[in-house]
Amino acid sequence: MINLDLLLQQELQSLKRQGLFREMKRIDSVQGPTVIIDNREFVLLSSNNYLGLASHPEVIKAQIQAVQEFGASSSASRLISGNMSLHEKLERKIAEFKGTETSIVFATGYMANVGAISALAGEGDILICDKLNHASIIDGAKLSGAILRVYPHKNLEKLEDILKNSTGYRRKLIITDGVFSMDGDIAPLPELVRIAERFDAILMVDDAHATGVLGKNGKGTSGHFGIKKGIHIQMGTLSKALGNLGGFIAGSKNLVDYIRNKARSFIYSTALPPAILAGSLKAIELAQRDTGPRERLWANVEKFRTSLKELGYDTLGSETQIIPILTKDIDSTVNASRLLFEMGIFAPGIRPPTVSKNKCRIRTSLMATHTDEHIDRAVETFKRLRHERVLCYSN
Ligand SMILES: Cc1ncc(COP(=O)(O)O)c(C=O)c1O
Repeated sequence: MINLDLLLQQELQSLKRQGLFREMKRIDSVQGPTVIIDNREFVLLSSNNYLGLASHPEVIKAQIQAVQEFGASSSASRLISGNMSLHEKLERKIAEFKGTETSIVFATGYMANVGAISALAGEGDILICDKLNHASIIDGAKLSGAILRVYPHKNLEKLEDILKNSTGYRRKLIITDGVFSMDGDIAPLPELVRIAERFDAILMVDDAHATGVLGKNGKGTSGHFGIKKGIHIQMGTLSKALGNLGGFIAGSKNLVDYIRNKARSFIYSTALPPAILAGSLKAIELAQRDTGPRERLWANVEKFRTSLKELGYDTLGSETQIIPILTKDIDSTVNASRLLFEMGIFAPGIRPPTVSKNKCRIRTSLMATHTDEHIDRAVETFKRLRHERVLCYSN
């Protein structure tokens, strides 16, 4: 009989030898600017709760009311009996937020990408992705059965070369992150819109990290650049700046009708529960209306990134609340994260396969709820880390 445990143990040991074994820290508090782990307070520098909405009193109140009114679960797929008025209300709200005809929500952002991409493309199609696109885009592309081509990060010349050599496909779909999840830089969206138009390609933007953050009212990357048309598919998450859970696709009515009929991760999975729907609705309303947290977030970003650069750290091309700090190698990454933790900062190391071996990093992310004192504490800690020689310097 096969000894599965032994086989897995050997693989796990190999991961450990390579410094690639993953472990989780257990948080015993609300996801605020600080968290409690093992009875100690840490400055949290790795949350996607960018605007602090995950613990906003109005969001929590809306969630409690929804549970009281509609119960805990939607109890079925939308296409069976799980479709509730709150789903449709949220979809109308997302469409208004994103400036599209309509939208459709999924249980997670991951499922939105996998479901939409594998529904929209198949044999005879070509998907063209930025090298740093999120794993859920790549997984959707692989599942679709379409040809997948990847262009070097933000290299538009290479993208055009691929498109020039891509005749004879039924559909050409360009997919990019709006804000890149590990580097924190912004996709060159106006140029991508022009290229997609020139080559008759469909353009899809994953705005997971831009939604709620970029643009005057938090609309995302299209809002940041003032783009009104030319993006066919806007994907986003409810799980990051909006402080909840779930993903969505926003676009035309035909696009959404198509996805509702074809996306397997939508069709064959239980719909989002009432609390999440009501919380997301309230969170979008707050993100649109209340510009204060966004302004505080950007002030925090500026302060932290400038300080890191003054210390000489290499923050790659970060332009947003996601600020990577390059480390020398896998071992340095594990070491840096451990030392930060010992000094009261919770910021994980990012290693392969999430990033390539020579681009390991500490990935930090800022929140509107961080105070000056939290940021000063973090900067002071990174200053002390200089002696350990685990991070890369740009000067
Ligand atoms: C760019 C990007 N797209 C999609 C997702 C998936 O979203 P979710 O966490 O809501 O499943 C993530 C999550 O980290 C992401 O960073």
